[in-house]
Amino acid sequence: MMSSMKLQSHSADIGADLALTWENINLIAVNTEESLFRKKTVTRTKLLRNVCGIAKAGELCAIMGPSGSGKTTLLTAIGQRNSGVVEGEILLNGRPVTKDLMIKMSCLVPQKDLAIKSLTVIGTSTIHGKFNDGPTLLPKEKE
Ligand SMILES: Nc1ncnc2c1ncn2[C@@H]1O[C@H](COP(=O)(O)OP(=O)(O)O)[C@@H](O)[C@H]1O
Ligand SMILES: [Mg+2]
Repeated sequence: MMSSMKLQSHSADIGADLALTWENINLIAVNTEESLFRKKTVTRTKLLRNVCGIAKAGELCAIMGPSGSGKTTLLTAIGQRNSGVVEGEILLNGRPVTKDLMIKMSCLVPQKDLAIKSLTVIGTSTIHGKFNDGPTLLPKEKE
């Protein structure tokens, strides 16, 4: 099962006709390595280059590609869970989404570690939705 991001379109203040778009997303990973004699080497790797897409509420959107092709990197960039700087536009119904709103309205279910093999996709999403969304949603909204 690949990582997935669930839009909580039924949340009372957001509405059901949401369209999340991402345009020209670029992401450069910056890694610093300290070698012998404390010499620092900084490497920059471009992981995402001008990626565009759209996800609409009520529709299943799959991002497919071989292992290492950048699916998780893209999802964390769109979900604004990335520590690095993401270039490009992430828009909700045409308006820029703040990091706070994205974290409140979406749920990123990790591919590994927290996935229970015996659960279905619905079961996994439900459990993560119930436990990961923070205290701001009412139980009915989490469903
Ligand atoms: N912080 C990072 N620094 C350098 N390379 C990275 C970093 N994070 C991910 N990568 C590389 O980016 C590529 C895409 O990774 P990932 O998004 O996990 O792929 P997927 O989810 O499609 O399997 C991989 O080659 C991975 O090694
Ligand atoms: Mg992955």
